[in-house]
Amino acid sequence: MAHQWRGIIAEYRDRLPFGDDDPVVSLGEGGTPLVYARAISQRVGADVHIKVEGANPTGSFKDRGMTTAISQVKQSDVQVVACASTGNTSASAAAYAVAAGLTCAVILPAGKIAAGKLAQAIVHGAQLVAVDGNFDDCLRIVRELTDEHPVALVNSVNPYRLQGQKTAAFEIVDALGDAPDIHVLPVGNAGNISAYWMGYNEYAGKTTLASMDDSALHMEPVATKVPQMWGVQAWGAAPLVLGHVVDNPETIATAIRIGNPASWKYAEAARDDSRGWIDRVTDEQILQAQKILAAEAGIFVEPASAASVAGLIQAAEQGKVPEGATIVCTVTGNGLKDTATALGDVDLDFTPIEPTTAAAMEVLGL
Ligand code: F0G
Repeated sequence: MAHQWRGIIAEYRDRLPFGDDDPVVSLGEGGTPLVYARAISQRVGADVHIKVEGANPTGSFKDRGMTTAISQVKQSDVQVVACASTGNTSASAAAYAVAAGLTCAVILPAGKIAAGKLAQAIVHGAQLVAVDGNFDDCLRIVRELTDEHPVALVNSVNPYRLQGQKTAAFEIVDALGDAPDIHVLPVGNAGNISAYWMGYNEYAGKTTLASMDDSALHMEPVATKVPQMWGVQAWGAAPLVLGHVVDNPETIATAIRIGNPASWKYAEAARDDSRGWIDRVTDEQILQAQKILAAEAGIFVEPASAASVAGLIQAAEQGKVPEGATIVCTVTGNGLKDTATALGDVDLDFTPIEPTTAAAMEVLGL
């Protein structure tokens, strides 16, 4: 029988802070497709692979970090978890809390969460608090709240989150046989770029600022190198590019509408130590890249996810993409979470035809 993927803790336990007998809360996350994108490769003159994180159980990469964060909570007496979120973290936390038998509270910026993500938090029974403010306000509130009460914080400031998220880098090396030359991903709160950098390094027998311990130094390296990390922010929410906090971040890519990333220092270290960069793209470039992924690669992603491909295309236009390089772009979340933005002003009011094959053929011009 074919091997059934068992979730990231079971698959990578020797590289995660979990013993054989520790409780595991999993929805089978990870093991996501790494898809060679022929048309995008041709566009940029390199070999581009897309890591499709929208294929995770709740439709985003957050599930990798949530299985580890929630499993760690199950080692304690804490019964309530909480997070601030631009949508995906709350969807994931709500689902894993159900699997763990915990209560979940989510603090969200009012009016700035894509409908699909809000639906997820609601159907999984999370307690919702909408704040008249942005994600950064929500994170401040949830930090203060969890400091004062026996409630576990499951945002990526919880180190167990990054531990889980680093496994995406392991999967990429396992699939390609070594690390790629370049890894491109969207940057919001900056946890994911920090986690990938940690994962790539630990697989190469090294540690990073974000590493929990030095066990990687004592393990057989799997990769011979680490990639350059290229991070992409939205134009109106680009604190890491500007080098200062953005007070009123704004972008159509609501998932990365963040002005004061929690993992700022780790992300800068990933950028600098990998000799990479963090740049920004406009909302128009993001929507264009979303279309290209859908129409040329067959992959439907949410706007924030498309920022990685938008950044890669921009880099190619600027002559920054080394010819023939092996590049991986992470697309972080599923397009079905935010169909309103993807459809824009597309008219869904189709005029129905008579129920005959002849009428259908006429419409199709056959
Ligand atoms: N892409 C998507 C789809 C996201 O949901 C996020 C973050 C990012 C990229 C950026 O990742 O924060 O690790 O740099 N979403 C968080 C949330 C903030 O609350 O769901 P990051």
